[in-house]
Amino acid sequence: MTQVLFVCLGNICRSPTAEGVFRAACEAAGVAGHIQCDSAGTAGWHRGEAPDLRSQAAAKEIGVDLSMLRARQVVPDDFYRFDFILAMDRANLKALREMQPTNAPAQLRLLMDFAPNARIDEVPDPYHGTPDDFRDVVALMVQATAGLLAALGVSGNA
Ligand code: 4NP
Repeated sequence: MTQVLFVCLGNICRSPTAEGVFRAACEAAGVAGHIQCDSAGTAGWHRGEAPDLRSQAAAKEIGVDLSMLRARQVVPDDFYRFDFILAMDRANLKALREMQPTNAPAQLRLLMDFAPNARIDEVPDPYHGTPDDFRDVVALMVQATAGLLAALGVSGNA
């Protein structure tokens, strides 16, 4: 079993979108029984909240339902439970590096490392943006999660 945690700042926009899009891609590829994912925020301000309605709307446009997800903050145990912890931007990655317990095995990376063709290394925070900014996040997630599946050895065009 491979465990992947997506992390942003608030866990209500980017990382729940990544979680929903990646889970749908795993289901489409028939590997949902082998790859599990979750998402969390480096901050706890939105703990217990459903994803931002603008993220839910943008994900729904490609058939991904985020409504059942609930925000939580990253906890030390995450660095032992998850094989990969994938940050949306450099600030998230820095916060994660500072939080990682010594000897905890999780590999920390930027999610966009898995989408080299996107020519962007951070997922822009759409929180103060427009509906199109939320659609752009979904499009980046589609690219990055496909690259992530390929990196995990899942082939095909799911
Ligand atoms: P996220 O977006 O990190 O993609 O979930 C944000 C959500 C909330 C806030 C900032 C970013 N906030 O300042 O409350």
